This record gives sequence, C-alpha cells and structure tokens, in this order.
Amino acid sequence: MKKVGELRKQAFLLWWFGMTVLFCFLPGDCFPYYEKTTVSRRELRGVNASNPRPSISAVKLNTEDHDQVVIENGIVQVTLSSPEGYILGISYDGIDNLLESRNDEQDRGYFDVVWNKPGKNSTFQRIHGTEFSVVSLDENQVEISFVRTWTPSLEGENVPINIDQRYILRRGDSGFYSYTIFERPEGFPEVQVDQIRNVFKLQEDRFVYMAISDARQRYMPTMKDRETGQPLAYPEAVLLTNPSNEDFRGEVDDKYQYSCENKDNRVHGWVSVDAEAPVGFWVITPSNEFRNAGPIKQDLTSHVGPFALSMFVSTHYAGKEITMEFQGGETYKKVFGPIFVYLNSVSNSENPLTLWTDAVQQMSKEVKSWPYDFPQSQAYIPPTQRGSVVGRLLVQDWYIRGGRFLFANSAYVGLALPGAAGSWQRESKGYQFWTQANKKGYFVMNNVVPGDYNLFAWVPGFIGDYRYNATVTITPGSVIKLDSLVYNPPRKGSTVWEIGVPDRSAAEFYIPDPYPTLMNKLYNEQPKDKFRQYGLWEHYADLYPNSDLVYTVGASSYDQDWFYAHVTRNTGNRTYQATTWQIIFNLQYDPFKGNYTLQLALAAAANSVLKIWINEQDSVPPLFETGKFGGDSAIPRHGIHGLYWLFSIDVPSDLLVKGNNTIHLQQSLAISPFQGVMYDYIRLERPPTLRT
Ligand SMILES: *[C@@H]1O[C@H](CO)[C@@H](O)[C@H](O)[C@H]1NC(C)=O
Ligand SMILES: *[C@@H]1O[C@H](CO)[C@@H](O)[C@H](O)[C@H]1NC(C)=O
Ligand SMILES: *[C@@H]1O[C@H](CO)[C@@H](O)[C@H](O)[C@H]1NC(C)=O
Ligand SMILES: *[C@@H]1O[C@H](CO)[C@@H](O)[C@H](O)[C@H]1NC(C)=O
Repeated sequence: MKKVGELRKQAFLLWWFGMTVLFCFLPGDCFPYYEKTTVSRRELRGVNASNPRPSISAVKLNTEDHDQVVIENGIVQVTLSSPEGYILGISYDGIDNLLESRNDEQDRGYFDVVWNKPGKNSTFQRIHGTEFSVVSLDENQVEISFVRTWTPSLEGENVPINIDQRYILRRGDSGFYSYTIFERPEGFPEVQVDQIRNVFKLQEDRFVYMAISDARQRYMPTMKDRETGQPLAYPEAVLLTNPSNEDFRGEVDDKYQYSCENKDNRVHGWVSVDAEAPVGFWVITPSNEFRNAGPIKQDLTSHVGPFALSMFVSTHYAGKEITMEFQGGETYKKVFGPIFVYLNSVSNSENPLTLWTDAVQQMSKEVKSWPYDFPQSQAYIPPTQRGSVVGRLLVQDWYIRGGRFLFANSAYVGLALPGAAGSWQRESKGYQFWTQANKKGYFVMNNVVPGDYNLFAWVPGFIGDYRYNATVTITPGSVIKLDSLVYNPPRKGSTVWEIGVPDRSAAEFYIPDPYPTLMNKLYNEQPKDKFRQYGLWEHYADLYPNSDLVYTVGASSYDQDWFYAHVTRNTGNRTYQATTWQIIFNLQYDPFKGNYTLQLALAAAANSVLKIWINEQDSVPPLFETGKFGGDSAIPRHGIHGLYWLFSIDVPSDLLVKGNNTIHLQQSLAISPFQGVMYDYIRLERPPTLRT
C-alpha cells in the first residue's frame, strides 16, 4: 500500500501540473475545477502506473456510427449498441475491451428481467432499448438513455413495464454509473417479476481472481473447467474433474457459494492478476434502498464466467412468495441504482491484490456520496428531496429483569412499504431503508425517499418482529423523531429451556466438515463461512443412518448435537425418508396448570410440512402442523437462512408429565434431499404467571 501511496503522490503532482497547464490554456472560466474537490480526487483514481497521465479530458459522446454510442472521458471508454443499450465494450488502461468480445453483442453487459404472467412459466429477457437519447451532455458529465416502451402489441412477449436504461460517465471518474427505471402507467396488464439485474461478462483470459470480501477471495476456475466437470445434485454445482489449473481438481464450484446478504453486498468483482498491467473490475452498490426484501436477503455477487452481477431484485433464498406482483392496471415507478462500475489498475511490480483494498476505499467514498446528486432522471429523488427518521428502540420483556426497559442493542430498524410486522422480508416493490441501532438502541435513517412507510425492526437476541403502530410519512426535508419505541417480543411465560440463539440464522448449530472430495478450499480456513460448502445436508444420513437426532435438554449442546438443517434422510437409489427429531426434557415437578408455549423460530423452510407431537407421537391430528410451506432453497444454496418464520404453539399442560417428556418434530415431506427446515431458536415457556 506504501507503493500505491507513493504512486498517488507522483500522480497527484503530475495532475497538479496538468491542471495548471489547463488553467492557463483553456478559454473561459476554469474555476469550477478547483471548487470540485471530488473531481480532483477522482482524477487521481483514474491514474495508473503504466500510464501515469492524469486525465483531465472533457467527457465526450460519439454517435457517428448509427448502431453505436461511445462515451469517454480519457480514462474509460464505453461503447453501447444503439438503440438497444447493450454494452459492447469497456476500454480502459490500454485494454481494448474488459468485457468478453467473443460473446455475442447482447451478451457482454446488459440489464435483464425474469417475469411471467400469473400462472404461466417465467421468461428470461434481456432489456432491449428501442429509443436512444442523450439526456444531458457537457464537458463534465454525459447521461444517455435507452428506452423500451411497452405497447399492447407486445402483450405476452415483453414484460408490461416501460424500462429506461441509463448510463452516466463523468469527467475524471475511473468508471461509470448505470441505473434503470421501471414504470407502469395506467392500463398495463398484470405481471409478476422475479428478477432484475445488471450483468457484466468479463474477458475470460484476463480476469482470474475474484473478491467479494476481505476473506472471501480466490483464484477462480473457468467456464471450461465447469463444462469439463461433473454436475452434482443440481446443475449449478459442478465437481471440477478436469480443470485447467491442477490446484482446482476435486473442488466444487457453485455460484451460490459466493452469495452475500444485501447489507454486506457493496463491492465485489475481479482482478486480472497475470496481465502486464493488472486491472480490477468492480461492481459497487452504494445503497440498498432499491434492492428487494430487506437487509439480510441474500443474493449472488460474482461467479465463474467471469461474471459480475448487480442484483436489484430476485427471489433467491426466499422463493416465489416474494415476487413483485402487479395487478392489471396497477401503476408503478421505481429507480434501481445507480451502481458504480469502478475500474482500477496497478503496475505489474505491485501486488495486484491492492486493487481490492482500493476498490473497498472507493466503495466507502461512493457510500458517503449517496444519494448522488447527479442522475438526471425525474424519477430519481435527489438528496435535497429526501427526509429522515431518528429515534430509539427499547425492548421490554416481563420475564427479563422484571420488565425493565432493555436497549435494543444493534437492532435492525427499517422503513418499508406498509404491511404487517415482518412483512418487509417479502416486500419487493418499494424502497427500503435500513440501519442498525447502536448499543443503546438509537437509530438514524437518512436520505429516505418521500412516501408512506411502516417502521419495522427486529432485535438480535429476541424473537419476533416489531412494527411501529402508525404510518410514517416522509416528505422532502422532513426529520421525524420517534422517541423511545418499545418492542414487546412474543413471550407468555418464563423460560423452561431454550435451544440456539434468536438471530434468524442456523449458523450456531452443528455444521459438519465438508466431504474431502467435495470442497471449496476457500472455506476450509474460514469457520464463519463453513456453511457455504457443498453437500453438507448429506451428512445427516451419515450421522444418523438408522435413527434420528435426539436432543436432551441439559445434556446436549446445540453447537454439537443440533444439526444445522432438519433434512430428509437419503436412503439410496434416489429415495428419501421423512425424519423426526426429538427433544427430551425433564420436568422435576408436576406440570403447572394451563398452557405452556413452544416458541418455534425457523431460519429457513423449503417444501416442508412440519408436524409436532408432545409425548405421544402419531396422535391424530398432531399438536401442531404447518401445512406445506417454504420455498427458499437455502439448503442447496448454502444459505444458513432463508425467510424467517415464527410459530407460538400452545402446549396444554395435560400433555406433559412429571419426569421425561419428548417433543417430536417431524418434517414429513420427503421426495428430495433439499426439503427441510432450519431452526433459528426454540424455547419452551411455562404458563403465564405475570400479568403482561
Ligand atoms: C394500533 O393502532 C390501532 C388502530 O389505530 C389501534 O386499534 C390499536 O389499539 C393500536 N395498538 C397499539 C398497541 O397501540
Ligand atoms: C432402484 O430403483 C429402481 C426404480 O425404482 C429399481 O428398478 C431398482 O431395482 C432399484 N435399485 C436398488 C438397488 O434398489
Ligand atoms: C390453551 O390452548 C388451547 C389451544 O390453543 C386454547 O384453546 C385454550 O384456550 C388455551 N387455554 C388457556 C387457558 O389459555
Ligand atoms: C430421562 O431421560 C434421560 C435421558 O434420555 C435418561 O437418562 C433418564 O433415565 C430418563 N429418566 C426417566 C425417569 O426415564
């Protein structure tokens, strides 16, 4: 990093020299260059070692070729097809195209959407503009637009949404911004939208190293390695049997191993390590406001291709129940983005991995300058038109410290479209604004787009979901103060026993080591990410070949004895068995009269039916049954959670006895290895003794 620092110093001197020359020779008023300190910092980022010439070029637009639009700023040049708006090429640092030129023109850099008419199969569609326009152009910034307007003649073939794809290039930036606006005027037919992305397919020979966090980065296999490998239980997972790099032999590649929660998905991308002048290609997402389903929704980042994705909306780790559903005639307008595609480079004498640390710094700068003040769309709400909410959340549980107020330490607090408590995790259409409270429960949500919201929260360490009991209406410039909100988490009586930690994840439970023949070596060294290995679910049958898991309260420990997922048992020949887990607990005295409560919090569920009996298994009907529920695919996709579910189940005391009692938890659907639930936390409560 020292070297980078020196380089920047040199670059700064050169830049200063350049600016001075410019100041002396350019006609007119050059003063703005000095005022715009952000521009000057950006100048430095555009500098690279192999060509340490700080660029001060004005932004240019070239439309001479009728099929193409070229925007450039002396640092980066982006060529797009017109009027479609596909990115054909990104030229940077003497490299003609960072994208894969061998791909078809529509298959290098593009927006896409997955949609369906209700009840019909879904369609993948690249967004294909039909009308090009220059939104704004001066020497400091160009913004261009590629619009596709829906008309009834496109019924059934095109998603009934008007889509505007925008690209912005600014003077001195080492990269460009992209965003898209989805709009439904009146009279459009019904539709469901499952996915909206911005995709970049990079030059395969060049980009070999991928980074999505300080710890999660590695040299990656190639697409060819996947093609010559052996697909595993689903096509995304491939055992690399014939890789170009021997080091990868016997590893598993699966794009879902590189998923990330929205809140952490801010910068990821690729480095060309072996090239003469290493370059980095980074997707920076400065805000989560436009992503769907809240801060802990997981989504894809970068993966073998080499591909870099910006996921705006998806149903990953949640399922169809979070689709964006539009009724016939329903109007809509939302801006997805802007995101920043950042490019950086170092000389070949420097460690190329400093490109990652530099990208992280750039991400921080983008986050600090959010919301941007330069996008030109009327639909984009600039910083001056936004509002904020400040407040404090407390927790009150009558069975903890006599009901004294507790701080909602590190609570997740957010605004989302109005709905029931917890509805935000299935909400995919509106903007969401989330923050984490401090240790004392204070929170601030800045830069909120005007509109009506509910304020939601959940607090690590407590079950359930909070919703403030009034609509929060944000107007431009408003600051709403919500003093001491109080969350009363679900609770009916004192704790008899508990299993796990209420945090919406199964990460604290027993996660087996991966099969040595099915590893992603990246995660062998990283205990926190152990759950991202392929095939962990299969270990259940190894550990419990004949009889199922039994957990004895007081003797078992959840980190060793509670398998992270309640899966089916593979009995060979593609047959699976339903499994029934037992919790044995001892009551020293005759049960108290009344209802005990079983608080059952789940971290994930997929095509499951969960049935519960107490003591007498197989009584009909069971004490509790969920019915078929869940579709989050968190088991095969190595998510340690999907959607959160909470069931508060009455347990009449006459079902319990003095001495040993057994709770039977059965997941009764068993046609695949991927059915099952993950538990977050289980608690048995005594009948109420306090007035609450
Ligand atoms: C929430 O609001 C509704 C409707 O105004 C009201 O009936 C209810 O009592 C309120 N609940 C609480 C806990 O304040
Ligand atoms: C596996 O299932 C197939 C089809 O049901 C059956 O024909 C075959 O005998 C089974 N093999 C074993 C080893 O059970
Ligand atoms: C106990 O639970 C049952 C089943 O939910 C319910 O019908 C009953 O009213 C409850 N009894 C008390 C005292 O809360
Ligand atoms: C209760 O269960 C525990 C653990 O399974 C066992 O050791 C104990 O003997 C049982 N007690 C009775 C009275 O059955």
